[in-house]
Parts: sequence; C-alpha cells; structure tokens
Amino acid sequence: MYGSIRLSKISKHFKTFFRRQGLAGVFLDLFRREYHIVKALDNISVTVNPGEIVGYLGPNGSGKSTTLKIIAGILLPTKGQVEANGLNPWAQHQEHNHHIGVLFGHRSQLSWNLPVIESFRFLKEIYSIPERQYQGRLEEVVEALELEPLLHLPVRELSLGQRTRCELAAVLLHNPPVLLLDEPTIGLDIEVKLKIRAFLKEINAKYRTTILVASHDLQDVEGLADRVVVIDKGRIIFDGSLEKLRLDYSPYFKRIVLHFKDEEAIFQAQHQLRRLEISLQATRQSIDGLSVTVTLKQEFKIQSILETIPQEGLKDLVVEDPRIEDVVLEIYRRQDEIPLLPSDPVVKLERSSNV
Ligand SMILES: Nc1ncnc2c1ncn2[C@@H]1O[C@H](COP(=O)(O)OP(=O)(O)OP(=O)(O)O)[C@@H](O)[C@H]1O
Ligand SMILES: [Mg+2]
Repeated sequence: MYGSIRLSKISKHFKTFFRRQGLAGVFLDLFRREYHIVKALDNISVTVNPGEIVGYLGPNGSGKSTTLKIIAGILLPTKGQVEANGLNPWAQHQEHNHHIGVLFGHRSQLSWNLPVIESFRFLKEIYSIPERQYQGRLEEVVEALELEPLLHLPVRELSLGQRTRCELAAVLLHNPPVLLLDEPTIGLDIEVKLKIRAFLKEINAKYRTTILVASHDLQDVEGLADRVVVIDKGRIIFDGSLEKLRLDYSPYFKRIVLHFKDEEAIFQAQHQLRRLEISLQATRQSIDGLSVTVTLKQEFKIQSILETIPQEGLKDLVVEDPRIEDVVLEIYRRQDEIPLLPSDPVVKLERSSNV
C-alpha cells in the first residue's frame, strides 16, 4: 500500500572472511578460507502504516542500518520479503526509487564540488519532477530549513549541520511518501536538531509522509515518534507506543527534581532527603548545582514530599515521567540478562573451501 513499509521474516547474514597473516597465510587462504557468519537480522517482521512516524532504536551493531538499507533496496536480504509503497525494492526498483527518500549519514545525494542548487536541479531531472512542482517544493524546503544563504555554495564548503539540512531537502524534493532516516541529527547542534524535527513533523502532518527514523538521540525519537521499534542483536525486542515502552520497562515510577534556593538550603535538607529516600523508597540520582533529583519506585503523594522537605529552602519541585534514556537502558539491560541462544548472531565459525 502507498505509504507503507512491510518487512516479513527478514534475515540478513553477512559472511566475513578472516585474512591470515603473511605470505603463507595468503597461500593458505587461497585453498581454505575461514569465515564467520554475522546474523545482522534474524527473522524480523515489522509493518509501518501510512502516515506513521516510527522511531527505530537499538544499540550499536544491532541491525538498524541493515534494516533501512534493505527497505531502500541497497542490500538484498538473505531471507524474507520486503515492500515499501507496495513495491518490491528490486523487482520494481525504478518505481520504488521514485517513492522513497533515504538519508544515510555517510551517503550523499549532493555533488561535492557543485553548488547545492545545481545538485537539486540534477535531482529534479533524475526524478522527472515537473517544473512547477519543483519550484513549489524548493520554496518550501528552502524556507523551512533556512537554506537560502547556502544554495549557491559548493557542498564542500558547508558545515556538517548545513550539509545535513541540504541533504534532507534533497531527499524530499520528489515528495516521497516513505522516508527512511538513519541518524539524521548526529553531530548537530540543538538548534539545528530542533529545526529538523519540526520540519519532519510538518511534512508528516501535511503530506502524511511515513517516516522510519533510526537514532541514538532519544530526544529525536521522543520529539517525533509515537511508536518505537527496538532491535537488539538482530531481533525485534519491542514494538509499541512510547507509553507502553515506559510502562513495560521503566526502571522507576517518577523522577522528582527539587530546586533549592541556595547551597545552604540543600545542606539543611540533607537529613530530610534521607528520610524521604527511606520512606518513599526513593533513590537519589544526582545533585546538579542547586537541584537534587530523586527517583521513586512507587506511587506517592506530593504532600508527603512537601511535608518532608523544609519548604522555605525549596524554590521549585518538578515531577517528571521516567526519562526515555533510562527506559531504553533498562530494556537493553534486561536483554543482556537473557542468555544467548545458539542461533544468536554472535559468531558461527565455519570453514569453506575455494577449491
Ligand atoms: N557489509 C557488512 N559486512 C559484514 N558485516 C556487516 C556489514 N554491514 C553490517 N554488518 C554487521 O551487521 C551487524 C549490524 O550492523 P548495522 O550497521 O545494521 O548496525 P546498527 O544498528 O546500524 O549500528 P549503529 O548503531 O552502530 O549504526 C553488525 O554486527 C555489523 O558488524
Ligand atoms: Mg547504523
């Protein structure tokens, strides 16, 4: 279906050869090479519906980029079926390319030596975008991503943040119904990150663009997505709403940040803080300047805190939901506690013969 992504029982195995050292090693490798199989993806099934923004989370090496490359048609899966917009990325690759936008940090749509606008015009031709549609779209991305001062500069002269904004514009010129983003805000300052997030939200609302975004920046995921898919060691370990993720994996109930008036007030509150910790099963997480953060394991009455801490020294008190960082750490931690099964994608040593 237009705007959807469907992965069904996808596995991707990489065969990596060892290289023996020295001349004798080269000779031996000719006859018998040792290799191992990395199961980058192990039978994953995910469906993203039209208009959804889904955050794709997972530790380094868990299989996020591999998944996106398979959907983009850059990699062929070892097993399973994949569709985007109801199209097969290989059998219908031309049509597929016209309906998908892909942003990978290390892959550029822009020519290094050409002014940005020239690359945009080139993409207009590649995607056969009608002139009027192109002009309208260009105006839109230039305004939203503040590209005007950059359009006539060669790409090599742009900073990382400037280039990323241009790359994002480039993948959106043909208004693809499906957008794949791999770490779109890596290395960017907070202002640019916010700009990119707002823009993605905007195009999602306006065109119902389906967005699958892999990121380690949990603020990105929280700011953009309603649904998250978590992958670990090539397997999907969670697929659901952010609320469900919090509910299932929160290592604590709430965080309370107590802002004190001055150091003296914190000092005065030491004893009471300890009492609070004992009575509410709270854990003191950090002291940052004049703020103390405690996490609470169970439900509590705000009154009990106000009664415990002397109010004259307290400037403000903020109750927060568990931080997404803490929730995700907890999900990875629990995974690590589960012993690896023989089919886990660690390393399966095998031998092959070239003769
Ligand atoms: N071309 C390749 N050849 C061999 N192994 C590969 C190849 N590409 C990826 N892998 C392996 O597949 C696994 C998954 O890699 P992938 O790049 O998908 O992880 P990721 O979740 O995107 O990680 P990161 O957060 O670091 O970007 C890793 O173990 C990686 O070493
Ligand atoms: Mg990656």
